Amino acid sequence: MQFFSLSSGDRIPALGLGTWKSAPGAVAAAVKEAIIAGYRHIDCAPIYQNEPEVGQALAEILKTGTVARQELWITSKLWNNAHAPELVEPALRQTLADLRLDVLDLFLIHWPVAFAPGVLFAQKTEEYIPLAEQPIIDTWRALEACRAKGLVRNIGVCNFTVSKLKALCEQATIQPAVNQIELHPYLQQNEMLAFCRDHNIQLTAYSPLGSGDRPQALKKKDEPTLLDNPVIGQIAARHGITPAQTLLAWGINRGTVVIPKSTNPGRIRENLAAAELKLDARAMAEFVALDCGFRFVDGAFFCGKGSPYTLNSLWDKESHQ
Ligand SMILES: NC(=O)c1ccc[n+]([C@@H]2O[C@H](COP(=O)([O-])OP(=O)(O)OC[C@H]3O[C@@H](n4cnc5c(N)ncnc54)[C@H](OP(=O)(O)O)[C@@H]3O)[C@@H](O)[C@H]2O)c1
Repeated sequence: MQFFSLSSGDRIPALGLGTWKSAPGAVAAAVKEAIIAGYRHIDCAPIYQNEPEVGQALAEILKTGTVARQELWITSKLWNNAHAPELVEPALRQTLADLRLDVLDLFLIHWPVAFAPGVLFAQKTEEYIPLAEQPIIDTWRALEACRAKGLVRNIGVCNFTVSKLKALCEQATIQPAVNQIELHPYLQQNEMLAFCRDHNIQLTAYSPLGSGDRPQALKKKDEPTLLDNPVIGQIAARHGITPAQTLLAWGINRGTVVIPKSTNPGRIRENLAAAELKLDARAMAEFVALDCGFRFVDGAFFCGKGSPYTLNSLWDKESHQ
């Protein structure tokens, strides 16, 4: 397994297991299968509503001695309803209890979007809090305090644009270690890649396979698929690997962490093998032409009627980077 070094000196495994949409009853088996296969990195979040089951799997596998806690990298996230500074540590402690851990390796602000306390998914105006009223920097300071207490080893963000990252970097005492964003050949985000390289921020690529199991309501009509793309199919055939492995190897070859989700034992192993693959220069050049600025997870679900958030405000009009 390759690792990437973070600003703290910690090393994050280049490939991890995603757990969004991994159903109760399936996620524990997937986590155990993955760790037995050799995964050392699991990406979690309370909004995936499966952290207690992930925690049960982690406890069971740690008990067998297959792996030690220090060998595992566990990421989780702060949901939108706990941005108020006094709610950050309790939310983190709930996640730690659910995952049955004393400390997280990485704790991320899940979205630059705030909901009223207790609201799982905002539907009307009063359930949203505009960022002007709940500034990210105040939430960030609470994450910094959690790190100072030793509850998390690294802190970072998700779904931040370059402008939001710049603003945070200017105000933060502890710089964000990671930005976890959607990244794949249709959304290559080269300006973001350069900014993060310059500022020692590690990028993690979510939905690296195109998130085909998203609920139908989150899909656009006639949206493109990555796994069926003929160029990717040709590169895969030339290298004697699968299209999924090609996509994951592309991400790691660019220096980004990838966190494919699977609950299928064969695909869990297939994806892990991609961490050892190298694509040739011709393949990396062929990928360039596939960039079309397409987001599978565009956050439109935060921008409905009555919301202070819009697609323009979420992405700062950077969706075609
Ligand atoms: N921070 C954020 O806001 C955010 C947003 C989205 C995602 N994430 C994280 O990123 C992870 C990955 O993203 P994602 O879940 O959206 O999508 P993804 O990993 O791009 O795609 C998952 C889909 O690909 C299938 N799949 C997995 N391996 C495959 C293979 N080798 N061949 C063919 N199909 C394969 C899975 O099916 P099977 O399970 O049946 O194999 C599932 O349908 C999430 O689970 C979550 O942890 C974070």
